[in-house]
Amino acid sequence: MKDKMIEYSLRLKNLPPYLFAEIDRLKQKLKKEKKEFIDLSIGDPDIPAPQAMIDILYESAKIKKNQKYALDKGKLSLRRAIKKWMKTRFRVNLDEEKEILPLIGSKEGLVHFPLAFINKGDYIIVPSPGYPGYRGAAILSEAKIFELPLREENNFLPDLEEIPKNIRNKAKIIYLNYPNNPTTVLAPQEFLKRLVNFCSKYGIIIAYDNAYSEIYFEKKPISLLEIKEAQELALEFHSFSKTFCMTGFRIGWCCGNKDLVNGLLKVKTNIDSGIFGAIQDAAEFALKKEKGFIKNLRKIIKRRRDIFLEGIRKRGWKAWAESTFYIWIKIPYSSSLEFAKFLLKKGIVVTAGIGFGKFGEGFIRVALTTSEESLKKAVRILENV
Ligand code: MLT
Repeated sequence: MKDKMIEYSLRLKNLPPYLFAEIDRLKQKLKKEKKEFIDLSIGDPDIPAPQAMIDILYESAKIKKNQKYALDKGKLSLRRAIKKWMKTRFRVNLDEEKEILPLIGSKEGLVHFPLAFINKGDYIIVPSPGYPGYRGAAILSEAKIFELPLREENNFLPDLEEIPKNIRNKAKIIYLNYPNNPTTVLAPQEFLKRLVNFCSKYGIIIAYDNAYSEIYFEKKPISLLEIKEAQELALEFHSFSKTFCMTGFRIGWCCGNKDLVNGLLKVKTNIDSGIFGAIQDAAEFALKKEKGFIKNLRKIIKRRRDIFLEGIRKRGWKAWAESTFYIWIKIPYSSSLEFAKFLLKKGIVVTAGIGFGKFGEGFIRVALTTSEESLKKAVRILENV
């Protein structure tokens, strides 16, 4: 009887452990053993969130209304601030009533989204390498997965022609993410146009993860919704985590096609009970008043990037660092996992490329989420391996 009771669902059995939770466990173990290490693994910025925004959070938490369930689709004032942001930052027009939905972090929305549109056995196309959350979302919704390679020779853009004809017809959702985690590249407008045409032809929804839209250096990323007709088939996901270093607050939003928004809203109202009102107020404040914070963040990350890149390139390794706060490094070894374990012994925690899917093999990802001093130390260690 007990065996039957604790028999995990097939869904759960098929679900791999979450990559960054696994790495976190490893880090806790190292801490317990009092071993020192430089943490270049998860994309959780060491920089504190804006103080003025935290003050708003503190004040808003005292308001009784904010202490109650937030069963609506997010505060209207927040949705209006998002509307304005999308308009001024990207020239995208949205209806705050139907086309914008605040989320408990973009990950939450990205993972719940397929529950609204997938029937068992439909295909979801996930990029490889890609953010592990997409694969988890596909498994939890009992979709079949097609792993779409992002290859170095194509500058880590997918070749849509690689999707077999029979899968194009059965695919319901494609996840894509530019500025790209983990490879850091941006998607040119021409590619996004081709993507929209392709998905429109085959009836595929685009779940476009734009979480890193503000972490760029030389070239400024665009929104998929700037592409003509994208609003007919796309939902774009945004995050406060990366833009305002608010990873722990858990707030993001999605926007785009109203039927897609509506589908996700219905799923969510059955699962969660809204976002803490004070966090919504803080997020609204950040969007309206913290543009200077983002500029400064970009400066800090760019300096770190340049230090690290110089070291890596001196070492003779190829690396990409166009945007985001990651560096994607091609390693001269066949197993990224073995190499990551080796680096761990040297005191550096990185993410093995294979953790992002099979086409991530042969690479490691470094997160620039620590001080320049620690990065210089890490470079020195890498120079000697
Ligand atoms: C990453 O480090 O790639 C992610 O941003 C971490 C996460 O969201 O789980």
